[in-house]
Amino acid sequence: MKTKPTQATAPGKAILFGEHAVVYGQPAIAVPITQVQATAAVESASRGSGLTIVASDLQKRLTLAEDSRKEPLIAAARLTLSHLSAPEPDATLTIRSTIPIAGGLGSGAAVATALVRALANFLSHRLKPAEVSALVFEVEKIHHGTPSGIDNTVIAYEQPVYFVHGKSVERLTVKEPFTLLIADTGRPSPTGKIVGRVRRARQREPARYDALFDQIGDVTDEARRAIEMGDIEAMGPLMDENHELLIELRVSSPQLDELVETARLTGAMGAKLSGAGRGGNVIALVEDSTAAEVAEALKEAGAVQVIRTKVGR
Ligand code: PMV
Repeated sequence: MKTKPTQATAPGKAILFGEHAVVYGQPAIAVPITQVQATAAVESASRGSGLTIVASDLQKRLTLAEDSRKEPLIAAARLTLSHLSAPEPDATLTIRSTIPIAGGLGSGAAVATALVRALANFLSHRLKPAEVSALVFEVEKIHHGTPSGIDNTVIAYEQPVYFVHGKSVERLTVKEPFTLLIADTGRPSPTGKIVGRVRRARQREPARYDALFDQIGDVTDEARRAIEMGDIEAMGPLMDENHELLIELRVSSPQLDELVETARLTGAMGAKLSGAGRGGNVIALVEDSTAAEVAEALKEAGAVQVIRTKVGR
């Protein structure tokens, strides 16, 4: 019997506060970014063909029979089938994504989320966000060893979240919508590597690093209050403060610092790197009246793409 083709999507994400510290038990705040997304489509294939996963952007064509436990797409499909106690279907699953790879916008988690959702839908199952998040967390471990779980959570729930590793998810109420610019450096931000460097640095200087993580946690808690109370003005300086602390963690770069500086000088209320750092992107909090000007300046300063997004609407 032929099953109806299905499709599912998943958004990108940006971490507003708390990256890196979140790996060590501190809180972080992240929001979905719907301007970029991953899409997975599944359709029936000939009998006996099994499941084929095609990711043309990544130039990958994979079958479940392949023994590549390190391949996140195969892992995502296997985990979903085993979660649903379903046999491998005869189908082709095609992945597409407009989210820059290793760009700090959650590309890996979004691709896995779209895949899990589409495969479950194809098999006539509707998974809850918590189920999708748990499956994608397992896939994230293949990508970068010790993920905090923030990417899979914000992407599977598709809502602003206040996240603490190991605690239940708290959805964040955004009292007043605010505008963010996300400026992509075009340089990769290999999360696993950077998280590994921070871990080794902490082993050498535990007291210094733990104090920095505590300070980032305090900034994140203040930002949470500002977001929930609609105090947008308070958020800018908190972003600036978070960026300084990330510099002290040595995860920034001259290019990230330059984009942050450009945003501030051209009217942003605050700016910081977002995600693992070294490359990836910078986020800037802007008033709608200055957004176009700041975006232009970021491009002139070398950003390959600037996304404008409204959080809380
Ligand atoms: O996936 P990225 O690059 O947006 O960053 C992940 C955020 C980190 O805090 C650096 C790592 C983690 O697992 O939370």
